[in-house]
Amino acid sequence: MSVAKRDLENRKVTTHRLIEMKQRGEKISMLTAYDYSMAKLIDEAGMDVILVGDSASNVMAGNVTTLPITLDQMIYHGKSVMKAVKRALVVVDLPFGTYQGNSREAISSAIRVMKETHADCLKLEGGAEIKESVVRILSAGIPVMGHLGLTPQSINKFGTYTVRAKEEEEAKKLLEDAHILEELGCFAIVLEKIPAKLAAKVASELTIPIIGIGAGNGVDGQVLVMHDMLGITEGFSPRFLRRYANLKEVITSAVQEYIEDVKRQDFPNEKEQY
Ligand code: KIV
Repeated sequence: MSVAKRDLENRKVTTHRLIEMKQRGEKISMLTAYDYSMAKLIDEAGMDVILVGDSASNVMAGNVTTLPITLDQMIYHGKSVMKAVKRALVVVDLPFGTYQGNSREAISSAIRVMKETHADCLKLEGGAEIKESVVRILSAGIPVMGHLGLTPQSINKFGTYTVRAKEEEEAKKLLEDAHILEELGCFAIVLEKIPAKLAAKVASELTIPIIGIGAGNGVDGQVLVMHDMLGITEGFSPRFLRRYANLKEVITSAVQEYIEDVKRQDFPNEKEQY
């Protein structure tokens, strides 16, 4: 690879660059991260987008849903990630209850996240129903990524984590919402757990990038939760999840080996002390 091409590849990823990637058919990679050390590894590996997802509520804090995580906690995770990342575009989720009420509350939550974390942009769940909040945040110059389909912050309304928009009426609303978000000025949309055919239709009708999770291969990029794809979480194996490692096994065996070494006084050895 020429130096000029490598410099180009190493440039900071921007929202504009994601749109260019869609235009030339280059798929966008996106993964969650919540802390400094993992964000550093993921960024250095070449990820395009790092999402400080409110899935931190589940995988970092051990909650059953994403609802309990607070704005302060998301800011903590966002700050930690931002200290590590040099290249990837960093998106922070606005958590449940910080933008749905009214647009004044939404803009104050958004400004806090941007000021305190230095993140690049925000992600909000929902379509027409959060229109005013999206407009207000965009008007402050903050780029917004939408999120439609299975929106975990609405789990109590859905009642289950099954595939969304299988029925015609819900599919029609999703398509309309996607168009609304694009017209408002969102720079990208995440589509979660919807039929691949519908996701591909959204991606072909919209000019902004569509990033899928459980939404098939006809979209412009893919996102996964880091703990799931690295095999740290257990008891969660939806069809769309590909596990790229079994870190649960690696970590458990390393920890057990350490315990054994301590118990039999093999650790520390002579070279490992002062
Ligand atoms: O919070 C999160 O991790 C997300 C992804 C599932 C897209 O929103």
